[in-house]
Amino acid sequence: MSTILRAFDIVVLLSLFLDSNSNACDSLDYNAREPTPDSAIMDRSTNDSKGQLEDLMTIEDFERESEKNTEPKIWRYVSHGAGIGQTLKRNCEYFQRYLFRPRVMRDVSQLDMGTTLLGEHINSPICVGVTTAQDKMHVDAELATAKASRAHRTCMVVSTWSSVSMDDVATVEGLKWFQIHPFHHREETTRRLVTRAENCGYKAIVLTIDSRVVGREFGRLMSSGGFGFTPLHELPNLKEFGKIEYHDPSASWEYVDWLKTITNLPIVIKGILTAESANEAIQHGADGIIVSNQGARHLDGMVASIEALPEVAKAINGRCEVYLDSGIRRGTDIIKALALGARAVFVGRPILWGLACGGEAGVDRVLTLLEDELSNAMALCGVAKVADIDNSLVRHDTRPHVSKY
Ligand SMILES: Cc1cc2nc3c(=O)[nH]c(=O)nc-3n(C[C@H](O)[C@H](O)[C@H](O)COP(=O)(O)O)c2cc1C
Repeated sequence: MSTILRAFDIVVLLSLFLDSNSNACDSLDYNAREPTPDSAIMDRSTNDSKGQLEDLMTIEDFERESEKNTEPKIWRYVSHGAGIGQTLKRNCEYFQRYLFRPRVMRDVSQLDMGTTLLGEHINSPICVGVTTAQDKMHVDAELATAKASRAHRTCMVVSTWSSVSMDDVATVEGLKWFQIHPFHHREETTRRLVTRAENCGYKAIVLTIDSRVVGREFGRLMSSGGFGFTPLHELPNLKEFGKIEYHDPSASWEYVDWLKTITNLPIVIKGILTAESANEAIQHGADGIIVSNQGARHLDGMVASIEALPEVAKAINGRCEVYLDSGIRRGTDIIKALALGARAVFVGRPILWGLACGGEAGVDRVLTLLEDELSNAMALCGVAKVADIDNSLVRHDTRPHVSKY
């Protein structure tokens, strides 16, 4: 049995390396590439070249370019997925399984990409997902990301592990949510973080529930040293707590019940991939859920987020807002996610690649690119308003597929 499994794994690996489809998740093939030599890595404080940014026409361009500007270990930490990268690749490729059913002869001269997130207006359904290590991509870190997010009038989610304190990020205007995990010592840690976020003006709490233990490769990468990562207890949001154990693998839905008692902010649950968990999230008072496999960073072999979305959206049936992250690399991905039930999408790695390529201007360019691609796709599909995007716009391609997962 184990020989069969091993042979199967080899076939899967080979097929991944031989895949000729160019897409941003071909970063998986990094395993086959030589790392960028240190001498070729640009100084993160001087990589703000506008001219160079204008030459970057796709998220794939940003991915490639960012590798030149980033220390190899950091780039791997940001861009790799767990295991053999099966789900990392699937997150992007599964979008290809949905095909458009465009409408014709509709007035698309004026496009409206605006929408709302928990009642707050945003200019487009493209939001900035929660990520760490921003100071490793650019010296301005979250401040650069927040400024670009403000310029696009969208929502940014700030991590507990952010490299700039939540208070300082909050000084940049714009809609922001604060992300936490179900931490141990909830009274001392979670309650204080949530109260602080409320006082700083964050508009929702995002509770990440899918990584109460970290993935094996992720853990190994983190503990292999040499990253120059700030130890957790020295991070600006956590300094006040000292050296404590954060992750609480015993946390259950009761944690959400408790969270609801300590804040009036809406609670958005991040990391749902099934109808069962979606229903439980609703029973425990979720105001929004993010269909997410955390960009396939911890567990390999999961369903792609876009694959899980129809099941989750059907189960939720309008009882709370549904968003999606993991694998968004182009405007057509966004329109497909909206058609399948997401109200908005959150973008992870592309924001970090943008940051590495040009700080605020790099993130600005990534958001502009995705907005341009979305508006172009909307016009070509015959929809003038984001609100008009519905399930009838796509169909699932049920043919045996040539892509390998
Ligand atoms: C470098 C990095 C750091 C991340 N840090 C967090 C985090 O602190 N909390 C969290 O809930 N998700 C975190 N994520 C996951 C993202 O929020 C998001 O789920 C994922 O990146 C989406 O997939 P994408 O990168 O394909 O867009 C991180 C992702 C990356 C790449």
